[in-house]
Amino acid sequence: MNQELLLRLFKSIEGEPNEDIVKVAKSIIDEEEKKGHARLAIKLKNILDKNVNSYSSFRGDLKSILPSGVTIPTDKRYNIPLATLIERDYLRHDMILPDLIEAKIRTIEQEFVARERLKNHGLKPKQKVLLYGHPGCGKSMAAERIAYNIGLPFLKVRFEAIISSYLGESASNLKRLFESIQKVPCVLLLDEFDFIAKSRSSGHDVGEMHRVVNLLLNLLEDFQAPGILIATTNFEGIIDFALFRRFDEIIEMPKPSALEIARLLDQTLSSIQKSPQIKWTSISKKLNGFSAALVVKVANDAAKKAVISGKKIVDETHLLSAIVENSVFNKK
Ligand SMILES: Nc1ncnc2c1ncn2[C@@H]1O[C@H](COP(=O)(O)OP(=O)(O)O)[C@@H](O)[C@H]1O
Ligand SMILES: [Mg+2]
Repeated sequence: MNQELLLRLFKSIEGEPNEDIVKVAKSIIDEEEKKGHARLAIKLKNILDKNVNSYSSFRGDLKSILPSGVTIPTDKRYNIPLATLIERDYLRHDMILPDLIEAKIRTIEQEFVARERLKNHGLKPKQKVLLYGHPGCGKSMAAERIAYNIGLPFLKVRFEAIISSYLGESASNLKRLFESIQKVPCVLLLDEFDFIAKSRSSGHDVGEMHRVVNLLLNLLEDFQAPGILIATTNFEGIIDFALFRRFDEIIEMPKPSALEIARLLDQTLSSIQKSPQIKWTSISKKLNGFSAALVVKVANDAAKKAVISGKKIVDETHLLSAIVENSVFNKK
């Protein structure tokens, strides 16, 4: 791409840049550097830095929430924080789960709350949790809910900032992040953490990525921080079963059963009127196999149809057509 166009493109990345855009921008800078266009690379980096630095509100929030003196490290080259803090007000927490899963998650919360009492008996709370399952079944949400319920700051690891195409930097980023939270009680989310194992694509040295994966496994094994570490992965991410022994608790987040589907519909449609003629059992049956996220989407789509129709009452036809329209998203 010609230089002027690149500069214009970079200048157009304004405000709080989206993670993917930052990642692509970083690889463009790396490419230009490799091509020997050092001056252009510096110019682009400066433009990006200016935008990335608009994360100042994020740093301010961290100061007020994390213990004094604790800062989250940033990627050395682009100054992107290696983890994002999500404020308590934004944490999703109203979950509908089968009793067994609800009980498992509640145990994690209760053990953390009772950690001092457990310690007096030489016992430790569960601190390393792996959540796996289909997309949209509440893995990330469960991590947020745990942080919400036990009142800990919630930090989400930014793998796109951790993984650098510069030799040695990914490992160093990962190490620095884990060191920084050594003494910080927080919930650290490694969301879709198999991303690391998959980042062997172009620009990333295979040997280097192998070392990063091993480092992550060691960091998981040695994790001693005062908070809770939660890793999530979709089914496809579970490549290495040896990984399992690194966790104190492993929970499969299931797709909702008919009972949970009905509760999800009820919760999502709680603020809109519903026709008494709706046959809820048959609607729930039709949603069998849908993820919780998709059930919520169907309910919201039906509500929108009701509003647009002017009647403001959700009826069976709204739900049925929302189900048909969303069936394409239903991956078995
Ligand atoms: N158990 C649940 N209870 C209520 N809503 C849920 C549940 N699981 C998922 N959702 C809905 O689906 C959305 C996506 O969930 P998320 O946790 O991001 O899925 P995952 O991380 O498993 O892909 C949530 O924002 C919420 O609307
Ligand atoms: Mg998720």
